[in-house]
Amino acid sequence: MEIKMAPSILAADIVNLGRDVQMVEEAGAEYLHIDIMDGHFVPNLSFGPHLVKRLRKTSKMFFDVHLMISEPEKYIDIFAKNGADLITFHYEAAENPEAVLKLAEQIHAHGIKAGISIKPKTSAEVLKGLLSAFELVLIMSVEPGFGGQSYIDDVNEKISRLALMAKEENPNIEIEVDGGITADNIHVPTAAGANVLVAGSSVFGAEDPKAAVALLRANANEAVK
Ligand code: DX5
Ligand code: ZN
Repeated sequence: MEIKMAPSILAADIVNLGRDVQMVEEAGAEYLHIDIMDGHFVPNLSFGPHLVKRLRKTSKMFFDVHLMISEPEKYIDIFAKNGADLITFHYEAAENPEAVLKLAEQIHAHGIKAGISIKPKTSAEVLKGLLSAFELVLIMSVEPGFGGQSYIDDVNEKISRLALMAKEENPNIEIEVDGGITADNIHVPTAAGANVLVAGSSVFGAEDPKAAVALLRANANEAVK
C-alpha cells in the first residue's frame, strides 16, 4: 500500500499554525493529523472543532482527526461538519463491539472515512470482526496524551498481527501508527505493515520541517522496497 505521511499539528507552532500547515502541505504530506484531547480520556487538552473549521478554509489537505476523547458520539457530527475527512475514535472509549459499529455508522453518515484506534496496552484481537467497518486502524505507539514520547517497541508485533487480520477481514484498510516516530525508527512500523505514519516532534521540531517530511518518507519507502 502507498506510504502516507501524517504530520501531527500537536507539535506545530500554534501561533504560526497556518504557516506550519502550509509547510507540510507543500512538502507533500498526504494527511494532516489533528489530535483532539478532552482532559478525561487522556490527561491533557488540545484543540476543539473550531480549529478544524478554521483550518478547512486555508488548507486542502486530508484532515485526519484523532479523537482521544470519552463519549465520541457527542462530537463526531461537529468535527465532520467542520471539515474532517477521516475521524478516528478509540476502541477504549466505546463500551462494546455494538457501540463501536454504531460510531462507525455515525461517522459514515457524513460521507467521510472512519478509523478505530487502540492504545499500546490494548490487544489487536479486540478488533477481530470489526475491521470491515473501518477504512483505517490506528495503533498507538505511545500512551496517548502527549507528543514527544519514545516509541514503544512492544507494539511492533501488534502491527504485524493486525496486518495479518486485515488481510483476512479488510485488505484495503489503512494501518496508521502514531507516537514517537522519527527518521531513525520509521522503518520499523513500516516494515511491520503500517502505511500511514504520524510524526509530530520529528517534523515540527526539526529545523526544516519540509526536509524532515522528505527524509521520513524516504526512510519509510526504503523499508518496503
Ligand atoms: C499523542 C498523539 C500523537 C502525537 C505524536 O497522544 O496522538 O499524534 O502528536 O507526537 P510525536 O510524533 O511527537 O510522538
Ligand atoms: Zn494522534
